[in-house]
Amino acid sequence: MKLLAFSIALSIAASRVFAARYSKSADISGPDFYEAFHFENLPDPTHGRVTYVDGPTAQRLNLTYATQDTFILRADYTTYLKPSDPGRKSVRIVSNKQYTTFTAVFDMRHMPEGCGTWPAVWTVGANWPNEGEIDIVEGVNSMMPNIASVHTGSHCQMPSTSRNMTGDASGTNCAAYETDNAGCGVKFVEDVNDPISFGPGFNTHQGGWYALERTNSYLKIWFWSRSDRAVPHEVKFGRTKTIHTESWGVPAAVWTDDLCNFPSHFGPHNIVINLALCGDWAGNYWAYKQSGCPDTCEVFVNTNPATFYAAYFDFAGIRIYT
Ligand SMILES: *[C@@H]1O[C@H](CO)[C@@H](O)[C@H](O)[C@H]1NC(C)=O
Ligand SMILES: *[C@@H]1O[C@H](CO)[C@@H](O)[C@H](O)[C@H]1NC(C)=O
Repeated sequence: MKLLAFSIALSIAASRVFAARYSKSADISGPDFYEAFHFENLPDPTHGRVTYVDGPTAQRLNLTYATQDTFILRADYTTYLKPSDPGRKSVRIVSNKQYTTFTAVFDMRHMPEGCGTWPAVWTVGANWPNEGEIDIVEGVNSMMPNIASVHTGSHCQMPSTSRNMTGDASGTNCAAYETDNAGCGVKFVEDVNDPISFGPGFNTHQGGWYALERTNSYLKIWFWSRSDRAVPHEVKFGRTKTIHTESWGVPAAVWTDDLCNFPSHFGPHNIVINLALCGDWAGNYWAYKQSGCPDTCEVFVNTNPATFYAAYFDFAGIRIYT
């Protein structure tokens, strides 16, 4: 009996230790993006002034572009649109593989900025919102800082006590349909005079690294700016086969399972990267006006093509660990 109790204790201890260790399963850079992702040329589900094109069109129009160590994804920045035209051409890509417990590191040099832009790097299950959505990088109209959010079906709450994270919780109910789709967000905390996690601030610092860790009992998101001295080596260089997330320090955002059964709220997820313009959040009157943006979002997008020159993602790569 004693021996059994001891070996159970040992295996619990062992599973705790190994819970935060992962092995590299994919290293996606440059042209690999075309193998690892597919293009979704659908009408924007968030009602934006945008037309998502298919893969051949994206490459023909240079809305996606790859070199050995670069993958660019952008909106069209040359076409003047009439109100009756379809929305500005842009791109939405979805990973071919699905993931449950995993860690992903996104090494980004630049993200879309400017009035009307609504870039996002996120993961989502097939049956929304019941299989969950995790927004890693998201924001609108260059408004800083980053806001990471989780959206689920009913009965998934976050504790009202503070979680061990550097960000500020903006809500505790994650249920999409009960929160007007706000979910349970975490606003990153950073120096307002030197923003680094989103939009122009992120770009001025040559971007950085976002990481998501998903287990059956927690979600964690970290962000390190390019010049941050505390970037873990295994994140910065990505050369090691294994990673140890328990040594990465306090995350920007954490979601725990105290009041949310993770396996029943999160299914297998695809990774999605997209650039919407206007729509439910970016084009929303208050969000748009608060950002100091002119006209209405639709008029601005139609008539100012050149401002979308800065509306692009530049990925150095994405690494997946399982
Ligand atoms: C396509 O886009 C890339 C990256 O923005 C740029 O370097 C390249 O010159 C563009 N190619 C053409 C033909 O415009
Ligand atoms: C918060 O997390 C960090 C890093 O994982 C850890 O070192 C620290 O002890 C934790 N603090 C609390 C109060 O749990």
